[in-house]
Amino acid sequence: MKVLLTGATGYIGSAVTDHLTAAGHQVVALTRSAEPQPGRSWHAQVVGDTADPASLAGAVTSEIEAVIHLAPPSGDADVDTGVIEALAAPLRGTGRPFVYTSGIWVLGATGEAQEVTEETPTNPIGIVGYRPQIERQVLAEAAEGVRAVVIRPGIAYGRGGGIPALLVERARGQRAPEYYGKEDVRWPMVHVDDLAELFVAAVERAEAGTVWHGVGESAVPVRDVARAAGRAAGVLAAPHAVSVEQAAEVFGPQFADALALDQSISGAAARTALGWRPGRPGAVAELVSGSYRPVEVFGAPDGPETDDEVAAIRRLVAEVEHAQQNELVDRFLSLFRRQDPVWTTGHGKRLSGLEEISAFTRQVLPGATAESTAVYDVERVLFLRPDVAAVNVRQQPILHDGARIADRPEGRPLYILVKEDGTWRVGAAQNTIAVD
Ligand SMILES: NC(=O)c1ccc[n+]([C@@H]2O[C@H](COP(=O)([O-])OP(=O)(O)OC[C@H]3O[C@@H](n4cnc5c(N)ncnc54)[C@H](OP(=O)(O)O)[C@@H]3O)[C@@H](O)[C@H]2O)c1
Repeated sequence: MKVLLTGATGYIGSAVTDHLTAAGHQVVALTRSAEPQPGRSWHAQVVGDTADPASLAGAVTSEIEAVIHLAPPSGDADVDTGVIEALAAPLRGTGRPFVYTSGIWVLGATGEAQEVTEETPTNPIGIVGYRPQIERQVLAEAAEGVRAVVIRPGIAYGRGGGIPALLVERARGQRAPEYYGKEDVRWPMVHVDDLAELFVAAVERAEAGTVWHGVGESAVPVRDVARAAGRAAGVLAAPHAVSVEQAAEVFGPQFADALALDQSISGAAARTALGWRPGRPGAVAELVSGSYRPVEVFGAPDGPETDDEVAAIRRLVAEVEHAQQNELVDRFLSLFRRQDPVWTTGHGKRLSGLEEISAFTRQVLPGATAESTAVYDVERVLFLRPDVAAVNVRQQPILHDGARIADRPEGRPLYILVKEDGTWRVGAAQNTIAVD
């Protein structure tokens, strides 16, 4: 399909462009600027400004087979009503899809109710005050022969961007991770690439007059997101609460209210009815060991295949961390290659073969994290061969609330990982204490 996409240069729009293109569709990007944008996989670019509905008059030509409207609201309900009219009217009577992007904030605080669905009435907070009205305007187009669809994304993460990137930046600037409002606030979240796949599914097969929640994880504790954002910023400290009033001074009152909003929202309907399969790492995992923390990579060409291998290596190191933090002896042992692995402890004790590693681990790991634990971050990957990598890890001791233990030295393990039968495993490891 030839799809007109507003907001194509933005965070979600970039991912939607990639996934539409990968699915064989052609993106016609509506942009404010006529400047060509090298590196974008757009089929064509047309100029228009959603602050001026009249500028959109010629955008939906008879060649356009679908419209996805991702550009944000203008702040003026009349202007936005005019935008929907300008973009949807040319589709009337064609049965072609028109996908409008709303957001979960139209549902307001969900309170004790577990996993609010698309059937739940809206209760918008200030920042999205008139969006339900625009949703209704869009859905009414179904009666005019438009395949009108509304998507309400959760808080998007991934590709190092979105609101979580703001938390990372704040943690870096403040030297401490922060969250806003009450400590039991939960955010419904979605990986931006999973979300983009939902837009593709909606364009291809959502029925007219339907609403879908683009939510991968229904309620992520915001304290966990904040702690992970601190980790991504390299700031190990317990997350602290910033009051909504203080947050309002930084972000403005409406955005501060949105950041402090507690919600639990289900994205099950899209999975069941549209076959949507959001399967990328969760928000916390993505912050801790994904796109928010770039890794230095050597010995392999840039490209998606190397990215996939690095991601798999990071997952393995995250597994080592998880097994250590939770004293999971068998899980830890399962991460080694079967044949002759070697593990040298931070104190220089060399353990040769699985039996020695197993005996030592069973002796020292249970109870080892009673007082404190450690976080493991991959800093550098050198591919010695496509299936052998030398991986430099930074190991920082922390208390259970996430705070760095200042007077304990860090570890600088070097792992030699091997990929056997499609799975990366630890072949050899040398732990070294870093003393400046
Ligand atoms: N990010 C989230 O977590 C999230 C969650 C729920 C809902 N949403 C909604 O999803 C939509 C996209 O969000 P996003 O995070 O991708 O936003 P974004 O990164 O800020 O991108 C906004 C896009 O809209 C374009 N745009 C802005 N004003 C425009 C105008 N007057 N005319 C034409 N284009 C205009 C921008 O183009 P320029 O290059 O010209 O600036 C950019 O491409 C928004 O409606 C947002 O409310 C986002």
